[in-house]
This record gives sequence, structure tokens and C-alpha cells, in this order.
Amino acid sequence: MILTLRVQGARHWVKSTRCLASSAAPEKSPSSPPQLEVNGSTYATDGWTNVTPKILSYLGANKHLQTDHPLSIIRQRIVNYFYGAYRNQRGNPLFSVYDKLNPVVTVQQNFDNLLIPADHVSRQKSDCYYINQQQLLRAHTTAHQVELISGGLDNFLVVGEVYRRDEIDSTHYPVFHQADAVRLVTKDKLFERNPGLELFEETWSGSLADPKLILPSSKFMDQTKQPCHTLEAVKLMEHEMKHVLVGLTKDLFGPRIKYRWVDTYFPFTQPSWELEIYFKDNWLEVLGCGIMRHEILQRSGVHQSMGYAFGVGLERLAMVLFDIPDIRLFWSNDSGFLSQFSEKDLHNLPKYKPISHYPQCTNDLSFWLPEDIEVDAGFSPNDFYDLVRSVAGDMVEQINLVDKFKHPKTGKSSVCFRIVYRHMERTLTQAEVNEIHKQIASASVDSFNVQIR
Ligand code: DAH
Repeated sequence: MILTLRVQGARHWVKSTRCLASSAAPEKSPSSPPQLEVNGSTYATDGWTNVTPKILSYLGANKHLQTDHPLSIIRQRIVNYFYGAYRNQRGNPLFSVYDKLNPVVTVQQNFDNLLIPADHVSRQKSDCYYINQQQLLRAHTTAHQVELISGGLDNFLVVGEVYRRDEIDSTHYPVFHQADAVRLVTKDKLFERNPGLELFEETWSGSLADPKLILPSSKFMDQTKQPCHTLEAVKLMEHEMKHVLVGLTKDLFGPRIKYRWVDTYFPFTQPSWELEIYFKDNWLEVLGCGIMRHEILQRSGVHQSMGYAFGVGLERLAMVLFDIPDIRLFWSNDSGFLSQFSEKDLHNLPKYKPISHYPQCTNDLSFWLPEDIEVDAGFSPNDFYDLVRSVAGDMVEQINLVDKFKHPKTGKSSVCFRIVYRHMERTLTQAEVNEIHKQIASASVDSFNVQIR
């Protein structure tokens, strides 16, 4: 099933960077309210505000903590594995777990603290849900790394939902769940059996301004090591990390699962890898990990340790483990769905049995964009997807941009979206679909000033 390959998990970080809009204080759009109430706090809005009431309604749903929910089962499996993998001398788990952190984070937490370049695509308005220019709904659970390390933690897991603007299909949803982990070790711990070895190169000064720490970003693709670390330290840490993560993968998918490590790039780790498993005739990426950039630790007040970190998407694991075909099912409150899973036997996971198959209804929507506006130049398909979500909710299974063209005479651009309607839990009538489709068309006219064709 090729679709599985695209289930949300980790982001692809090696995309070419496009220039972001200027960072001058943006104009407030006349349609947005002056302030927003999110999770009990009030936030000022500005020209970056793009969260919708629909998206805000997901806050606090905590599917990863809901009894018998497949995402909660996956969370427990990961947490239990880490509790077992690392114990202190008294036999107590070394890792602590944070699964109720506020998803409203600052741009600094989500990007700057993790050394994500100022012009990186992942910061774009079209990719994230911004509350205002400074605050957004976290786009990954990695956003909490620095606050927890600065608070003195050295072995922890963060589990929670993350928010990303994306296309609509059976494997993409604007809210999904991740688990992130950090493990820091000192020299004494890492080299218990080799006390003569060092974490850091002798020539490294330990200063944040040292060029051995700060290199042009192209150099961070170097898979060998960061200039400040010794090769021995990196190799030993890499070995421990890969051993633990392969252990987790085998714990989840069984001891015979076929896997491979693939070199990759993340702004916050170096070297970095993805772990892929062989599933239904395809290689499926399950997690991203690496040796933490020492600059992140230095800035968090940690000077004498090094660490590894990893991040994993829970929906992706759950869809494979339970054979769940559509990501919207995780949001179902249908007892026919939830009663299939039980936390009682975490190691004997049932396969999902479809509740029933309801027919699809497909309707196209074509419109002319306003003059001088083109797809991805003034009009982002993600804006349209959010509008459709707000109007039709989970009645929409897929949206595809099926056609776009520019009129040779008028110079106007036209787009056509194909919207596939299908409810997870009942049959939709064509009349009902037509009514919703009409509402989407008129909301598009109001919001984007387009002309329906
Ligand atoms: N935050 C990354 C993503 O969403 C995943 C990730 C990769 C997390 C490597 C990590 C890590 O902590 O070390 O794409």
C-alpha cells in the first residue's frame, strides 16, 4: 500500500529553502478578531494569525491519553519500553514522561532553539498554524527539548499532538501525534569501561563562539561528527542509540522485522538518521534521530554532556500495527471503532475491522483567482484545505488539485479541486454533499475573492 509511505511522522528537512515574507510586523487582516482565547490564555492576533476555530477545537482532545484509544496504546508501548530499557541502580525508570505540555509554543521554542535556519521552509505561514507572529501551535514535539533540558532533565520523553497545515487524504490530518526523546550522558557514564577517553576534542575551547561549534549550515550535512566531539564518543553514543531504537522497533513490530538505517539531515542533530522498516513490500520511515547538536546543549546550560534524540509519529505506527486504513479514524468517537482496542493486553494488538464501507461522492470545484494571483504566489492550496476543513469537517476524505491553467488573454489563473466526500460512519446523500459543496464554494468567494466557474 503505497499510501502508507506518506503517513505523517517526521518532516523532510532537506527541502530547498524559499525566502520567507519580510519579518516586519505584519498587517492585521481585517477579518481576524483582535485577540484569541486559547487554552485559557488570551493572545493578540496579527497578520500571521492563521489558526481557525476548527483547528483550535482539537486542543485538549488528548487522544494519546484516552483509555483504549490506539494512540494511547502506542504511547504506553513506547513509554514502557523506555522504562524497561534504562533503569537506575535501584531499578527505577530513568526516563520521565511529559504528555500534557501546552501545545502553544513560541517561534523560539519551535524553531530558533533547535537551530532551524531563519529562512527554512518549515517556518512558513502556509506550513504552520500561527496564533500570531511569535506564537504557534507546535509543529513537532521537539519544540520542548530546550525548556526541559534547561530545567535540568537528562532522560525524558515528550508525547503530544502536533499541528501542521497539509493536504487532505487518508494519511494526512492537520493534527497528529508524536513522541520525542532525549538522553544525555556525561563522560563518566559513556566511558564507564574506558575512563581514559573524552567527549570533546582537546582543541575545542568550550566556548559558544568557537568556530568548531558554529559552522556554515552546509557543513552540518557531514555525517561523521560535529567538530567539537571526539569520534570515539560519537561512535559509542550512536551505537547505544541505534541499539535502543532497534530494540523499540522489534518490541513494536516483532523480532523478525526487517529494518535499515538511512543517513539524513535534521537541523538539530548531527549526524542524523532515519530508521525504516520493510512493510507490505515497501520501506517505511518510522523515526528520525541523531546526536544532538552541542550548541543546543550549550545554550541550555549543559556543557559537559552529549546526547541523542529521536522523534516518531504515533499515527504512522498505529496504522501499521492495527492495520487502520484512514487517519480520520483516530478522531472517531464511534464505539464500533474504540471498542475494538483495549489497553488490557498491550502486547496482543488486534487488527482493525472496518465498521462498514460507505460510498464516496466526488464533486469538482473550479474558480478563477483574482487578478495577479497565482497558485503558490498569493494563493496557497493549504488555505483552501483549511477552509474546506472548517466547512465540511471530516466529511471530506481527499482533496486534489486536479487542474490549473492561466488564460492566455486575460492572464487570470484558474484552479480546479476535486473533493471526495465520504463519511466514516454513515452514507452521505448526494443532496447533502451538494449543499456542503455549495457552502464551500460561497466561503471560497468570501475568503479568497475568487470567481466560481
Ligand atoms: N522533529 C522531527 C520532525 O518532526 C523529528 C525528529 C528528528 C525529532 C530527529 C528528534 C530528532 O528529536 O532528534 O520531523
